[in-house]
Amino acid sequence: MSCDRWIESSSQGTQILYRADISMVLYYTEIRKGQVVVESGTGMLGLTYCLSKIVGECGLVHTVEQNEERFERAKKEIEKAELKNTTVHKGAVKEFLKEFSNRTGLQSADRVVLDVPKPHEVLNESAEIVSEGGKVMCFVPCMEQAQRVLHAAEGHPALQIEQMLENVEIQHKPTRISEGVFGTVQKPLIRGHTGYLIFLKKKVSYQYPEKQGHDGEVGNAEMGCDGDNAGMGEIGDNGDLDDNGNVDNNDGVVNNDGLLL
Ligand SMILES: C[S@@+](CC[C@H](N)C(=O)[O-])C[C@H]1O[C@@H](n2cnc3c(N)ncnc32)[C@H](O)[C@@H]1O
Repeated sequence: MSCDRWIESSSQGTQILYRADISMVLYYTEIRKGQVVVESGTGMLGLTYCLSKIVGECGLVHTVEQNEERFERAKKEIEKAELKNTTVHKGAVKEFLKEFSNRTGLQSADRVVLDVPKPHEVLNESAEIVSEGGKVMCFVPCMEQAQRVLHAAEGHPALQIEQMLENVEIQHKPTRISEGVFGTVQKPLIRGHTGYLIFLKKKVSYQYPEKQGHDGEVGNAEMGCDGDNAGMGEIGDNGDLDDNGNVDNNDGVVNNDGLLL
């Protein structure tokens, strides 16, 4: 089943993330095959299903839901949809993050994706479990929540703010493209605010000289489980390019002239 079909067919008991937000989450967090992702809350599995598809059979998704009813429902749905790489955990995300290693047997996660009302309260715990160079994403509908997240992230010793985006969903209407072929076009002037997406990156420490020649992400996705390199950071030390296409080998900041700051 496609992610779209899954979301459409899900009866909704809570605010669910849709394509406009999910695509932004996946694009900016650079979630990819083989990674370990922690998500909360599970809600109606709108995002979970897409995360599971993206990380694939070599990856893992741990999703945390504190609402009893939604947890039970998610457990059944995950089983029914045969999402073998996905586990739903019951409880508050803060406690789960604190007990991450005990509960999963893993040292770290590559990504933490938060769609809960108070993500700012779990940034410390998220930073603790995310691997260096890994990312924490917070989705919040209101500016006040976004401000709290930014305030908590500013000056955080382990996190740097990558960016915040306000997402708007452009509404579409069905249209006939040609004989028997249908598609969609944008409805004029209808745009809806969906939420703010805040992307934080765990700072890379250079106190580990033995870890060389990678992109700074000491995560779980360096190799796919079939032995393929699932990563994207083969260029230089971290694979980042500046605005002029120069490689930033240092994870330092590169200005627009390509000079390392
Ligand atoms: C907006 S919904 C998430 C929707 C989900 N992203 C989706 O697309 O279906 C928020 C969910 O987080 C859960 N939640 C709220 N606070 C939580 C917490 N501290 N720990 C775990 N789950 C929490 C709620 O019960 C709710 O199901």
